[in-house]
Amino acid sequence: MEEDRRRLLSILVTLMAGFGITATTVPFLNSWQPNPFKLTKTAPLKVDLRTLAAGESMIVAWQNKPIWIIHRTQAMLDTLSQIHSLLRDPNSLVKQQPTYARNEYRSLNPEYLIVIGLCTHLGCSPLFKPKRGELNSEWVGGFYCPCHGSTFDLAGRVMKGAPAPTNLEIPSYRFINAYTILIGEDPELV
Ligand code: FES
Repeated sequence: MEEDRRRLLSILVTLMAGFGITATTVPFLNSWQPNPFKLTKTAPLKVDLRTLAAGESMIVAWQNKPIWIIHRTQAMLDTLSQIHSLLRDPNSLVKQQPTYARNEYRSLNPEYLIVIGLCTHLGCSPLFKPKRGELNSEWVGGFYCPCHGSTFDLAGRVMKGAPAPTNLEIPSYRFINAYTILIGEDPELV
């Protein structure tokens, strides 16, 4: 009798274990199926900049991330060399950009900043605050992340004292012509 009980218990445990494996395997296998939406989103994205006037910005989606494109004016560009002492990594030593964007402007063409619009603290999307004095009397324009107060300049370089540890990330991109960029493709690899 005790032997039969033990055998039945053993069969039940085996069945339950088998069900458990099936239940956990299906989502696991699903996660390995290629997602066609995601695949198309990782393809290079062509963006026409002709309608983007100096001083204006636009946001496009690439790899499910917001990409900001800022057409900087000469006055905006002039601020970049004036605030080095306020920045944590003014020379972009931390690898948050392709090598061709490791310069004062963090871009291929100084006029255009192409940057991933996700704060390097916890991934919130900062606000574009381009006007002088918009946040405080010393503010020369940049980005402000309202959730924990990180601030970045007009090249996406993080200010000292911000909770965000690094500059904003610059994606790979190249110019096809003077007004068209391809986000997600390196000029060095073409
Ligand atoms: S996510 Fe930007 S400051 Fe926290």
